Amino acid sequence: MTCLKVKSKEIPKNSMVEFYFPAERPWERKPVLLINFDEEIYALEAFCTHNGLSLEDGFLTEDGRIVCPWHGSVFDVKTGKVLDGPAKRDLKKYNVKIEGEEVIVSE
Ligand code: FES
Repeated sequence: MTCLKVKSKEIPKNSMVEFYFPAERPWERKPVLLINFDEEIYALEAFCTHNGLSLEDGFLTEDGRIVCPWHGSVFDVKTGKVLDGPAKRDLKKYNVKIEGEEVIVSE
């Protein structure tokens, strides 16, 4: 199982930050989007399922939606589910565990 460890202060409140799972070769690293929303940390697939572009610069709405900056697909921050297209596939959701100041994300 691959794990990513991040300090919680690296994910400011109401923000989305892209990180990578560690891998032996740099090109094998898998991106993951960590989202600090409503006092919780969520971890989702980092690239939009429409055209595979990064969601990091997208918008996080007050009611927990991630809006892709490229063509406007909308995803639920808590589940990764598609709420509006053009994306058709949900974002993969990763497990998150908090240990003190550390956020541990696993596949
Ligand atoms: S890449 Fe996200 S909606 Fe097209």
